[in-house]
Amino acid sequence: TYRSIPTPRGPPKACPYHISEQTITPLNNTKHFQVSAYMDQRVKDVMCRIPTNCNATHVTLQTQPGRATQSDQIWLPIRNKKTNGKEEEKFQFNFTVCISNLFGDYNNVLQFAQTLEMYRLLGVDRVVIYNTSCGPDLDRLLQSYSQEGFVEMVPWPINEYLTPSTGWLFSKYGGDVHYFGQLTTLNECIYRSMTRSRYVLLNDIDEIIMPYQHNNLMS
Ligand SMILES: *[C@@H]1O[C@H](CO)[C@@H](O)[C@H](O)[C@H]1NC(C)=O
Ligand SMILES: *[C@@H]1O[C@H](CO)[C@@H](O)[C@H](O)[C@H]1NC(C)=O
Ligand SMILES: *[C@@H]1O[C@H](CO)[C@@H](O)[C@H](O)[C@H]1NC(C)=O
Repeated sequence: TYRSIPTPRGPPKACPYHISEQTITPLNNTKHFQVSAYMDQRVKDVMCRIPTNCNATHVTLQTQPGRATQSDQIWLPIRNKKTNGKEEEKFQFNFTVCISNLFGDYNNVLQFAQTLEMYRLLGVDRVVIYNTSCGPDLDRLLQSYSQEGFVEMVPWPINEYLTPSTGWLFSKYGGDVHYFGQLTTLNECIYRSMTRSRYVLLNDIDEIIMPYQHNNLMS
């Protein structure tokens, strides 16, 4: 059951609800996790029917019927809410690249710098990277790129909750979840980018999509 709360009238400190700002939020007393809540503007009320005059700002998932007042109930902010204005004109970015699941002590700074700079030359505005962990040099490089705003680091501490499979081939590497939850992060990136970027490319860091008839990806 999904329930939505109306916008609280008082200041935020008056709000008794626990609001998650994390990328992975465990659903209490279950084996499930909540990743993020996005409004899908392409369809009406897929799962969550919001009353017409209710300005819902957060959503929670209940495992039992009843009022959502338990102190352990955790609410996720609803993103991609409808904003007034023309859909076509309001994109913040033309081109976003999503890179999933940086993990282990991966530290190939030259590869990341090469790929990120090539994307910049090709007109990419934003690169989103899901980060479980990385080596010290790459950490410094990515801190610098995210301060500048070209890279958006999304924390992805999946190893704190599950034993991730460290290879793409599940039958060989085993684990609780395929390849650090790559499908989940790429899906998250599609929703994250949906209303703010005209184009979205899902790619690995060791592969660059190279246009051969134009000098930028947008064209
Ligand atoms: C809905 O609530 C949000 C957060 O309080 C506010 O920023 C927004 O303007 C509200 N939208 C409408 C249509 O009232
Ligand atoms: C997106 O591309 C259009 C057309 O080339 C350009 O006018 C606009 O400034 C670009 N937007 C961004 C955010 O770079
Ligand atoms: C990536 O995640 C690790 C583990 O949480 C953290 O120590 C590191 O600073 C993060 N790096 C970046 C660039 O976000």
